Amino acid sequence: MRKKIVAGNWKMNKNLAETKTLLSELKTKLKASSEAEIIVAPTFTNLYSATEVLKPSGITVAAQNMHEAENGAYTGEISADMLKSIGVETVILGHSERRAYFGETDQLLAKKVNTALQHEMTIIFCFGEELQDRKSDNHFSVVEQQLKNGLFHINKADWKNVVLAYEPVWAIGTGETASPEQAQEMHAFIRKTIANAFDQEIADEVSILYGGSVKPNNAQEIFAKMDVDGGLIGGASLDAENFTAIVNAI
Ligand code: 13P
Repeated sequence: MRKKIVAGNWKMNKNLAETKTLLSELKTKLKASSEAEIIVAPTFTNLYSATEVLKPSGITVAAQNMHEAENGAYTGEISADMLKSIGVETVILGHSERRAYFGETDQLLAKKVNTALQHEMTIIFCFGEELQDRKSDNHFSVVEQQLKNGLFHINKADWKNVVLAYEPVWAIGTGETASPEQAQEMHAFIRKTIANAFDQEIADEVSILYGGSVKPNNAQEIFAKMDVDGGLIGGASLDAENFTAIVNAI
């Protein structure tokens, strides 16, 4: 049975004190009995304290990005080994903001994927079409290309370390969410694409999260869809009450 997951991508928000406050609130509010695996991704500078604060809670800490090289002259970058050395085993790769503002291409992401897998990290691999792709009815082929170029070179055995996050760019931070039907339609397409390229078992086992303006008032109907296995939450993950409500909607 595939896992249900709710992950909070905090993006460039929350300083150290604010991070500790929010994590403490989440620790009290989120019960271990939750149906879903819960992941939070604070910014790099607060990852270590996050792992310390969350230690006995069962909530996992993820990084929002990492560099593809092992180490070296890459000023300002963070390696897989550095993340693992502080107890961070999960990394978000391919977020649309990394693609749009930091020039991350499918080819670069394929390298990052390889590095993360070599270090036996779990990858939350993000992808999704832009508004013009959907308007011109190209959204399925755009998503298929992103998956094929960035991810489909991996081995069958590597899929156990991969979580997918479909995030239509037009729904991120805009308040406009994909309808539950649009999310389901795309998630089913993603699963079929994986079944064709790999096999049905892998397609059935991989968790596919939806991301883009998920809020307490729409989470339940989105999560109820058959092929939606949880969410990657931006804005609403910055508030303990909202994030808890979304986790409880699974
Ligand atoms: P919002 O929930 O703020 O739309 O952000 C979604 C997202 O980008 C999560 O990675």
